[in-house]
Amino acid sequence: MFIGSIDQGTTSTRFIIFDKQGNQISVGQKEHAQIYPQAGWVEHNPDEIWQNTQEVIGLALGKANLSTHDLAAIGITNQRETTVVWNKTTGIPYYNAIVWQDTRVGNMVAELEKHGGIDRFREKTGLPLATYFSGLKIKWLLENVEGLREDAEHGEAIFGNMDTFVIWHLTGGTDGGLHITDVTNASRTQLMDLKTLAWDAGILETLGIPLKMLPAIHSSSEVYGEARGVLAGVPVAGDLGDQQAALVGQTCFQAGEAKNTYGTGCFMLMNTGTKVFPSNYGLLTTVAYKFGDEPVHYALEGSVAIAGALVQWLRDNLGIIKKSSDIETLAKTVEDNGGCYVVPAFSGLYAPYWKADARGVIAGLTRFVNKGHIARAALEATAFQTLEVLEAMEKDANIEISSLRVDGGMVVNKTLMQFQADMVEVPVVCPAMIETTALGAAYAAGLAVGYWKDPDDLKQNWGVAKTWNPKMDKDKRTNLYHYWRKAVQRSFGWEE
Ligand code: G3P
Repeated sequence: MFIGSIDQGTTSTRFIIFDKQGNQISVGQKEHAQIYPQAGWVEHNPDEIWQNTQEVIGLALGKANLSTHDLAAIGITNQRETTVVWNKTTGIPYYNAIVWQDTRVGNMVAELEKHGGIDRFREKTGLPLATYFSGLKIKWLLENVEGLREDAEHGEAIFGNMDTFVIWHLTGGTDGGLHITDVTNASRTQLMDLKTLAWDAGILETLGIPLKMLPAIHSSSEVYGEARGVLAGVPVAGDLGDQQAALVGQTCFQAGEAKNTYGTGCFMLMNTGTKVFPSNYGLLTTVAYKFGDEPVHYALEGSVAIAGALVQWLRDNLGIIKKSSDIETLAKTVEDNGGCYVVPAFSGLYAPYWKADARGVIAGLTRFVNKGHIARAALEATAFQTLEVLEAMEKDANIEISSLRVDGGMVVNKTLMQFQADMVEVPVVCPAMIETTALGAAYAAGLAVGYWKDPDDLKQNWGVAKTWNPKMDKDKRTNLYHYWRKAVQRSFGWEE
């Protein structure tokens, strides 16, 4: 028997099948359209995503010559915060999904900030006011889509992040589909109280969001129900936001253990144990996971909005590379960044700054700078942003991180990984299995049905594939970081 995992990400949807040792047996993957109706807006078509989900399930099963009878359970993991509202009788979405990177609620952030500041919901939710989270996106939909508020008040229009949307469809859709989410996804809406793990009536009232439209909050690992259709009969048993799933996939079950995932964005999470751990240095406090009836675990998170997305931007918007993997070849045509720094504040700047009005800059340009330097500066931007987050994490948790566990698509880039180690000045460790996001959701599902016994059982599946050790001269590093921070300052206040 195997475990299946749906990974509904920002750019694509995948279905991966794992065996007991955590090996990938088969994968199906399909990209979906990124819709940019105007500057700062990012949308997905939810129906396209559901269509793709069904296709990739069929693809992965077909490739491995497996059927639903070979799956002991499936888990779901997803791009977090991305917000969709649909009609529960017709199944039709009221609007495209508003993607986490979308900045259209910037005005609402500014307005809310006036009364109580950027941290007015932080104590309850662990999150600062930002364009990032789902709550304000729901508010925007309620205020801008005709007839939606009325339907929401009658319980006809329902909200979900992509986990909820996929699970609802998987378990029957208009014919009794489950309207649920898990604690990790709920913690990204800015509507859930971190301690009680329930929707917060006060915040809902302030934002004017009817409780009736919200999904029931469950643990991340339990049998929620049975799938129908393409996965008919398979227990749906795991649900985790993708970054929390990567934490689980990296088996960071002890307080103090951390991972950094290089995907569309870059997200570092540190398990902080069973107590809510507030941040004073610009990180988020979030739910790490909750396995069934076991106590909930929390995490500190440093979210960086743009990492791999910058490489895609160089490919799609500037055309200086043909495919993402060309970035490393281009970056290697030069010895260093030539004094050039790219701050990809496309969605404002997230951790540790939380500046909704920041916008991207390319700084330090001279006639000397060529596209190789820009490619290099783009890679370095990811490493600098990770360094800033790591420093915040060390200050918040008052510990020194002795190595950095990494995963995600960009870790195949050796130039980036070496530069990362040089910047953070600790070894950067990459596990043998880098599909940790999908694996984490599979682990959650497998634990729920007894496929794996307990978290210790999972630890045995983890092994190191490669370690990068820091080797850059100290002065050189200090100098590079100094100019990076200068460039960051240049991105602030653009929309003022
Ligand atoms: O919070 C957004 C995050 O979940 C998106 O992850 O993998 O698309 O960078 P990713």
